[in-house]
Amino acid sequence: MLALSVTGKRRFAYGFWRYRETEVDAAAEMLSLVRKSGIDHLDTADVYGGPGAFGGAERLLGVLRARTPELFKGAVVATKAGVEPGSPYNSSPEYLSAACEASLSRLRVDKIDLFYIHRPDFLAHPAELAETLDELVASGKVGAVGVSNFTTSQVAALARHMKAPIAVHQLEFSAAQVDPLFDGTLAQAMARGIAVMAWSPLAGGRLGETGATEFSRVRETLRRIGERSGVSPTAVALAFLQRHPAPVTPILGTKTPARLRDCLTADALTLSRPDWYAIVESCLGQKMP
Ligand SMILES: NC(=O)c1ccc[n+]([C@@H]2O[C@H](COP(=O)([O-])OP(=O)(O)OC[C@H]3O[C@@H](n4cnc5c(N)ncnc54)[C@H](OP(=O)(O)O)[C@@H]3O)[C@@H](O)[C@H]2O)c1
Repeated sequence: MLALSVTGKRRFAYGFWRYRETEVDAAAEMLSLVRKSGIDHLDTADVYGGPGAFGGAERLLGVLRARTPELFKGAVVATKAGVEPGSPYNSSPEYLSAACEASLSRLRVDKIDLFYIHRPDFLAHPAELAETLDELVASGKVGAVGVSNFTTSQVAALARHMKAPIAVHQLEFSAAQVDPLFDGTLAQAMARGIAVMAWSPLAGGRLGETGATEFSRVRETLRRIGERSGVSPTAVALAFLQRHPAPVTPILGTKTPARLRDCLTADALTLSRPDWYAIVESCLGQKMP
């Protein structure tokens, strides 16, 4: 069993991908609301911060921690490394060790609660990667290890060599992106006891009321279910993820307080089987066999 809380008191996490380093006041307001709402899992990555602003989101979190340490009490802060602008991926021992040190410094912490490999590096042998990650855990610089955007074979290859467990798999999963139901990643997570975090749970806002015509079929299904259940379509989209038994924790990305409050209403909704499958079918554009 993991000593690390990855799902939070509430079945949501909050992500900092969309923040620039300079947005200190806006981020502080949202972080305060996030924590008051009972969300205790914060997600970032070394590469977040906007174009050409590598490290910006981590530096922002470092500033927020210095300014309001109470907002970080009891919170898990997860970050990611391995996306190297220009490479594009680097999971070599030298790169990851230096990346971890840099993240520690930007986040202003002694230990990274959860350290992800952001995307698989085809040039990194899983045995060598496992050794690097195990060393980071053994040194106390990293509390737990996660992977993101790995295939099931890549997870299995890494797990085969790791001493520490792979605690979390972060993947793209939403009512507009149901591949994880079919590609084995969710089944593998359940088989191995790996927690699942869903990124872009609202398809980057494209499932929202102002979304483009793309996904109009799914949005209509979400609207219909929402109308009947007395919640917004986006709350239905989040309840869709939370209904999966893995369990799945959606990482919310809104920077708008009212939208965050709306997202949280998903907690009150448990989708019926027909409604849940109707969302899958409208995403696929065909009936289940
Ligand atoms: N591991 C990876 O490779 C990876 C990749 C991408 C993201 N992530 C993580 O996942 C987190 C969440 O991703 P995300 O930001 O794409 O999540 P998301 O919740 O799918 O999208 C958030 C975006 O949708 C907009 N939105 C929310 N509700 C809306 C509505 N009702 N109508 C219209 N627009 C709406 C938000 O705008 P407002 O801010 O204006 O409300 C925001 O721009 C990131 O912060 C990051 O931590 C990880």
